[in-house]
Amino acid sequence: MSDKPRLWITRKLSAATEARAQRDYDVIPNPEDEVFSAEELIAKSAEVDAILPCHSEVFSADVAARLSDRVKIIANHSVGVDHCDLAALKAQGIVVTNTPDVLSDATAEIAFLLLLGAARRASEGDRMVRAGAWTSWSPAFMVGQQVTGKRLGIVGMGRVGRVMARRGRGFDMEVHYYNRKRLPPELEEGATFHDNLDDLLAVSEFLSLHCPATPETTDLMNRERLAKLPAGAILVNTARGALVDEAALIEALQSGHLAAAGLDVFRQEPGGNPAFAALDTLFMLPHIGSATRDTRDAMGFRALDNLDAFFAGREPADRVA
Ligand code: DGY
Repeated sequence: MSDKPRLWITRKLSAATEARAQRDYDVIPNPEDEVFSAEELIAKSAEVDAILPCHSEVFSADVAARLSDRVKIIANHSVGVDHCDLAALKAQGIVVTNTPDVLSDATAEIAFLLLLGAARRASEGDRMVRAGAWTSWSPAFMVGQQVTGKRLGIVGMGRVGRVMARRGRGFDMEVHYYNRKRLPPELEEGATFHDNLDDLLAVSEFLSLHCPATPETTDLMNRERLAKLPAGAILVNTARGALVDEAALIEALQSGHLAAAGLDVFRQEPGGNPAFAALDTLFMLPHIGSATRDTRDAMGFRALDNLDAFFAGREPADRVA
């Protein structure tokens, strides 16, 4: 029997992450990348000291209460922890960690791709060319919104939000933000702070969401808030689907109040919202904000760093519960 901690890696991770995990832990891997149900999570927990899950595994209060007391730590392979009921896991004495920082560049890349793609009608154009439906050209053809020099509003000026702000500055955008707390000048880098969301919405020709999903931010962009954006604004969401009321978004796009939107995250994942398919003004991706080779390795290593610290009797750097 191995004297290494027994670790369940619930999804298929990068080869480098799995090799390091196999070296240091007694690993139960998931080479077929199966998705486990709540009942399976509970049953399997009796076999392990630690779990390394992704945001696809949901540790609700009910699951947390029924996990084996053998499990001492859940070291998430994600920065978002809305799939974990942190209070319930803490009450079970389970340490929870996440992987901040390492995915900020990759996620901001996807946010900017969505911003540009939505503004310049990328999915519509791509579909047209593929379908052989590009039959004419004129100066009035496929005219979109220019990004350069416009105002970019950022909700949540944390790590990803600040990288997004920098990318926006690269396009000469004027950056505005709303955050729970105003940042110090060296982190603000010239961005204009708004102490309430409505004021930010009023000036945001482009609005990009970078805050976590919590009970307070669920439906943050509802009908009333979408109406506060300037006519012709563009919304980008790479954070969590729960932040946007999807029925209200469809109405705002259909009425033309919003010119377009770019989404990497949805209320229903995987799958997305079937009603979105009819909207040419939506540019969508399947939750791939952090999906680069570099970032997958960095996320895996960060989760393993947290496990290593925990099993060495130290405080994991990214403890969230
Ligand atoms: C995160 O890390 O939260 C990303 O959404 C991928 O899970």
